[in-house]
Amino acid sequence: MIIPVILAGGSGTRLWPLSRKLYPKQLLPLIDDRTLVQNTLLRLQGLDEVARPIIICNEEHRFIIAEQMRALGVSPAAIILEPVGRNTAPAVAIAAMKALETDPEAVLLVLPADHLIGEPERFHEAVRQAAVHAEADHLVTFGIVPSAPETGYGYILQGPALPDSSARAIERFVEKPDLPTAESYVASGQYFWNSGMFVFRAKAVLSELDRFAPAIVESCRKALELAGQDLDFLRLDRDAFAACPEDSVDYAVMEQTDRGVMVPLSCGWNDLGSWDALWQAGSKDESGNVSKGDVVLCDVHDSYLHAETRLLAAVGLENHIVVETSDAVLISPRDRVQEVKKIVDKLKAEN
Ligand code: GDD
Ligand code: MG
Repeated sequence: MIIPVILAGGSGTRLWPLSRKLYPKQLLPLIDDRTLVQNTLLRLQGLDEVARPIIICNEEHRFIIAEQMRALGVSPAAIILEPVGRNTAPAVAIAAMKALETDPEAVLLVLPADHLIGEPERFHEAVRQAAVHAEADHLVTFGIVPSAPETGYGYILQGPALPDSSARAIERFVEKPDLPTAESYVASGQYFWNSGMFVFRAKAVLSELDRFAPAIVESCRKALELAGQDLDFLRLDRDAFAACPEDSVDYAVMEQTDRGVMVPLSCGWNDLGSWDALWQAGSKDESGNVSKGDVVLCDVHDSYLHAETRLLAAVGLENHIVVETSDAVLISPRDRVQEVKKIVDKLKAEN
């Protein structure tokens, strides 16, 4: 059985002003009328032998998540609540420990809650392959052919091909390299992007975490031991979890392990990491615009226009992003949307 683990605790600051602390991007309907976390769960339909999912998120979002699951008719095996964010390594450790309570051989399919996959059947095929390697105690990730030297991704140097499979050993895993390094990786043609989705046995990832980040395992064990059931939620112990070191599964495990395997994946993957990514992923009118809500345009091209509460009218724009919400409006050239994070930092510093 594969147990899906949905990581839904990120803050998604690059999609400000829509993505906020109380409503981060995974809880928003950014592409169609379902939210990203709902689409993540729906995407599992068509995969055989998939158990009920474990969802791990911040306690602030518990009712929104529970309601979004109820609306889909999905009943999770557990909704685990983190009192504070400690990044993805502790979240994966906790989910692995929880899965082991019911199945010592559990294979986890770890999924970010905020990605888009255009061709789910191809994704399913890659997951089936990954599960075979995970059962042989490998830690499997999915490699995407890179199209630009993005510095926000992990990079995988492909090693030797594995027998009877398109999978490859991972020669080297480098999380978030600087720009010159990312450029050299893309130019070499030997590197893939890490998709951020993983398949491994719960006990395999825990044993690697125990080797490379024992303090994380120790805090997580304690936080789970002292956890309390609260309605449908499993609430981790605040003090124990707050004492856990912060790290991502990419740095803590994938950069360190020698049991890494990569399954190449070509499935219209997009991590919706910026407003530009939403423009890329959206369906465009004849002028190349993606519009959401009440929008009127005149001579506007290749732009993303999103109106939440009012009529949004624009004239003579090209390659721009305009996002209107009840209390904030963002306007930015499409090629500078990564800098939205600076605005969020500025606002945080002022408040
Ligand atoms: N439960 C929980 N707790 N979830 C979290 C936390 C946390 O503290 N922090 C992040 N998440 C969730 C996010 O909501 C997202 O769904 C997922 O975990 C990945 O976190 P990101 O913060 O989005 O990671 P990233 O984008 O910087 O990097 C990862 O994804 C890239 C591809 O999109 C890495 O795996 C990279 O190697 C990869 O290339
Ligand atoms: Mg991300």
